Amino acid sequence: MKFVVDQQVEDIELPENLKLNTFLQEFHSDCPHPECSFGYYGFAFGQSPFPVPSAIQKALIENADKGAYAPVQGIPELREAISKYNKHYFDLDIAPERIYVGPGTKELIFNLLEILHGTVILPTPAWLGYLPQIRFLKKNYHMLPARANGKISAQDLKKLSLRLHDRQKILILNNPHNPTGVVYDRLDLEEIADVCKEQGITVISDEIYAQTTFNFSKFVSMAKIYPEGTFVTNGLSKSHAAGGYRLGYVIFPQHALELRRQFKKILATEYTAVSTPIQHAAVAGFKISSEIEEYFQTTRNIHQLIAEYTCHALNQIDGVKAVKPEGTFYLLADFNSFATELQKLRIDTSQKLSEALIVHPYHTAIVGGDSLVLERNDYRARIAYVDYNGKDVYEHYQNKTPKTNSEKIEFVEMYAPKVACGIKMIERFFDDVKRKAACEEFGKISVNA
Ligand SMILES: Cc1ncc(COP(=O)(O)O)c(C=O)c1O
Repeated sequence: MKFVVDQQVEDIELPENLKLNTFLQEFHSDCPHPECSFGYYGFAFGQSPFPVPSAIQKALIENADKGAYAPVQGIPELREAISKYNKHYFDLDIAPERIYVGPGTKELIFNLLEILHGTVILPTPAWLGYLPQIRFLKKNYHMLPARANGKISAQDLKKLSLRLHDRQKILILNNPHNPTGVVYDRLDLEEIADVCKEQGITVISDEIYAQTTFNFSKFVSMAKIYPEGTFVTNGLSKSHAAGGYRLGYVIFPQHALELRRQFKKILATEYTAVSTPIQHAAVAGFKISSEIEEYFQTTRNIHQLIAEYTCHALNQIDGVKAVKPEGTFYLLADFNSFATELQKLRIDTSQKLSEALIVHPYHTAIVGGDSLVLERNDYRARIAYVDYNGKDVYEHYQNKTPKTNSEKIEFVEMYAPKVACGIKMIERFFDDVKRKAACEEFGKISVNA
């Protein structure tokens, strides 16, 4: 029997994160070097390392008997809890009717792109999940490169928008931002919102990292600034370290009743509803409680501590530039100053740079620029600084919170040694690159030779 795959599916590629996942799994079990049993320094995966808060785990167990289908939009208790959560943390007044629960924000963003007609404006660098969706849906799209500070500017947005002649334009704004860790402040958002109002641009504001903003008081939701034109997506995946639960939500803008009706149709057609026990567990996650509050504070403090260490250590490497993140658990490292040497060694794309770093003896996994919607020969890469045992680190941090600079360094080196050693390995790699590129005239050798 020969099966014929639909052309629409043939035309898309496996999303980069899943490609990378498969590659690393294969590499892990099969390093070709005979004496090597070491896995890799994992700077590639965007997953919070902490345990799921125990209140959520307990609620999941208690609700394991809930076998009935849930309402399409989400169970009322959960939408009520999400509404209160948004008031408490983001000062948003959102009626539960404006909230739709789905199996992760990735799916909800896809659903939004399905129902919203129009050209998509995608700021770059970008999270690797958006572009495959845009391509799959065959939407028109335009990139909007960020400025040197990692943020898009309102002027650039306006300039681009004036060139687009579509009835509707959709800006995907990710704040705090994956992969750079930058956070748009109120003024940035006001300037962007002014252009959106003037140009009739709808915003999908992906705020999945909101709770990881290191200085949390600095986080402002776009729904606060531009309530009539913003869809906010958020969920359990990053703030509650529960990506595997697959639970996200979208807040619809004010006065979008007809659109909400259409959206419900899409959800009912595609997945009926999110798993009922998971929704009950999520109620515990979004409820305002001292346990969850302490969890948010501790995890964001640890992310900040390791962010500062990673950023500083990378900047100590001659030729490497890293922009200090203000949220998430990523930063963008710029290796472009090694471009000449890398090209001499035929490492002429960021993909090849990731491949050269993962093999023996470096064993270091990063996400290269072409997976972040950058040019193929742009040697910037995303560094996720989460390769440590989150449960142990959380406990040690609570038992003895490091205060001074040297205590902080000691803490990271003691409890997140793979982060510290992985950075050293990046340094060793570029030392070898420089040395081998200098030797290039003596013969064609590659950095892994
Ligand atoms: C920017 C961004 N948006 C959305 C997602 C997906 O989140 P979810 O697990 O809710 O689908 C991720 C996950 O890595 C992300 O980094």
